[in-house]
Amino acid sequence: MLEIRNLFAGYGELEVLKGINLTVNPNEIIALIGPNGAGKSTVIRSIFNIADVKKGKIFFKEKDITRIKTHELLELGVSYVPQGRINFGNLTVKENLEIGAELIKDKDIIEKNLNVVYKKFPILKERKKKLAMTLSGGQQQMLALGRALMQNPSLLLLDEPSLGLSPILQKELFKTIQKLKEDGISILIVEQNAKKAIEIADRTYLLEDGKIVLKGGKDIIKHKKIKNVYLGGRY
Ligand SMILES: Nc1ncnc2c1ncn2[C@@H]1O[C@H](COP(=O)(O)OP(=O)(O)OP(=O)(O)O)[C@@H](O)[C@H]1O
Ligand SMILES: [Mg+2]
Repeated sequence: MLEIRNLFAGYGELEVLKGINLTVNPNEIIALIGPNGAGKSTVIRSIFNIADVKKGKIFFKEKDITRIKTHELLELGVSYVPQGRINFGNLTVKENLEIGAELIKDKDIIEKNLNVVYKKFPILKERKKKLAMTLSGGQQQMLALGRALMQNPSLLLLDEPSLGLSPILQKELFKTIQKLKEDGISILIVEQNAKKAIEIADRTYLLEDGKIVLKGGKDIIKHKKIKNVYLGGRY
């Protein structure tokens, strides 16, 4: 599905990623964990061509998507929820969702996707005419996710979706993410909550200082590298 090969990327002169290899297979949840500043967001931003890719290649369904334009990526079926739940506060919930379907011309398809999102997140339907800024933190996160789903993606990139949510809302969010997988969407998730991420992911990569230093299945939780640094979830 997604293959990142020997990726070097950063911002101008700053080199952040130093030779990353990572794959997401169809119908997998892949977690990317690691300390602050390790370069987790930069991995996702490289896919979306927001960070400067210096070397290496990125493939989606065997197609070379290195430095591809954002709208092309969306059309191919890759959606992205950036860190920090960015919504348009002065627009309504419905308008925010419609922005997610910007590239779809067919009104019937937009309507259909809107109903899929409303079914998944009934609260968004209830609040569809309210301004996004009146939503709670958890609802804002649902809206950001919902907007990414409006494009009907087959691969979803999530950057720290649980950040700032209460434990109960986090639990709900992780359930929602697992349901998305059941719907056939592959997911690459960057998470601060390492324990939870490993739990829901099929495979996990640990990133430190721009390099993958550990990867594995759910057993990875027993690894001393994870135990020492991250036990207890948050770090
Ligand atoms: N737009 C930018 N311009 C310059 N440097 C940046 C930019 N964004 C991030 N960096 C730097 O790149 C490095 C990696 O940042 P990145 O956001 O990828 O880390 P992260 O692992 O996502 O951290 P966090 O857990 O805090 O979100 C950091 O040193 C950061 O200061
Ligand atoms: Mg980040």
